Amino acid sequence: MNVLVVGGAGYIGSVVVEELVRARHSVLVLDDLSTGHRDAVPPLALLIHGAIQDPAALHEAFTTKEIDCVVHLAARSIVAESVAHPERYEEANVGAGATLLAEMQKRGVRRLVFSSTAAVYDPESPMPLHERSPLKPANPYGSTKLRFERLLAEWAGRGELDYVALRYFNVGGASIDHGEDHREETHLIPLLIDAARGARGPVPVFGDDYPTPDGTAVRDYVHVVDVAEAHVRAIRHLAEGGESATLNLGSEAGATVRQVVRAVEDVTGRTVPTTAAPRRAGDPAALVASAKEARRVLGWKPEFGDLESIVETAWEWRRRHPEGYAE
Ligand code: UFG
Repeated sequence: MNVLVVGGAGYIGSVVVEELVRARHSVLVLDDLSTGHRDAVPPLALLIHGAIQDPAALHEAFTTKEIDCVVHLAARSIVAESVAHPERYEEANVGAGATLLAEMQKRGVRRLVFSSTAAVYDPESPMPLHERSPLKPANPYGSTKLRFERLLAEWAGRGELDYVALRYFNVGGASIDHGEDHREETHLIPLLIDAARGARGPVPVFGDDYPTPDGTAVRDYVHVVDVAEAHVRAIRHLAEGGESATLNLGSEAGATVRQVVRAVEDVTGRTVPTTAAPRRAGDPAALVASAKEARRVLGWKPEFGDLESIVETAWEWRRRHPEGYAE
């Protein structure tokens, strides 16, 4: 199939493209490179450099080949930034998404795989979260993602779209060729790895008074290659006439910040400097997935389920790319 991956030069997008190419799809990438990297796009995929809101780029993305399915990963995704600048999230995560949907309709493309998030849930709900757990985002990031999910449900309800929304939990790790390289890193695992190799100072541990086993926040870390594999399966599901679905992608295991610090120390054999810090705005105490529905609908289950393989692959990638991607 001809698959257009919007946001395919980013961390998760690049691994999704890698897996789609491996599955013999013909892949086009539309990316404005605001957070992604040209060198993160695998050589067998065609990069169109531009934003969704750039009419010429959008036109090129939908006319270079007849597109069978769109994978939409282009978004702003930093919880703390969304609290400080909610309007940026509104524009990127809802406005640009609506433009993409309108273009799909114009071109007669009706299959979409969408990157959603665990941040749509009410974090006060009992863990693990399943897809019918109450929805109540704790930050603007989660609420813009939820708004777009609802837009998708409306379009599907009118018979204009078939979609799979994948609610990612905390994605980590790397493939052989692609890893995490954000210009301003905010994510726990890459920060800890850089601290372990002496490339940065102590990592702040945001909050030690959460109602969790050691007081630090609990997240469900899931390997980026497993997440990418779910996209390949979601495309197949839609191509075979499967119904629209909204599915969690998590490993079903919670780890505290301190447990992640220990995992990085075990894998690297080095001490990771940390420092106590207040809670970070918008951060819930715990997010842990039930992934039963993804198993039922897509036959998906994490193959790299443990935190150690996530940290090991992230560490290996960083060792081989100490400066990240070339610019
Ligand atoms: N953390 C620290 N210190 C840091 C960075 C993070 O203690 O310097 C803690 C956070 O408070 C949180 C955990 O580590 O408890 C993970 O934080 P990340 O920043 O790595 O990830 P988030 O949980 O904030 O968010 C990520 C994605 C979101 C997604 C969410 C789903 O960035 O897009 O996972 O669970 F919605």
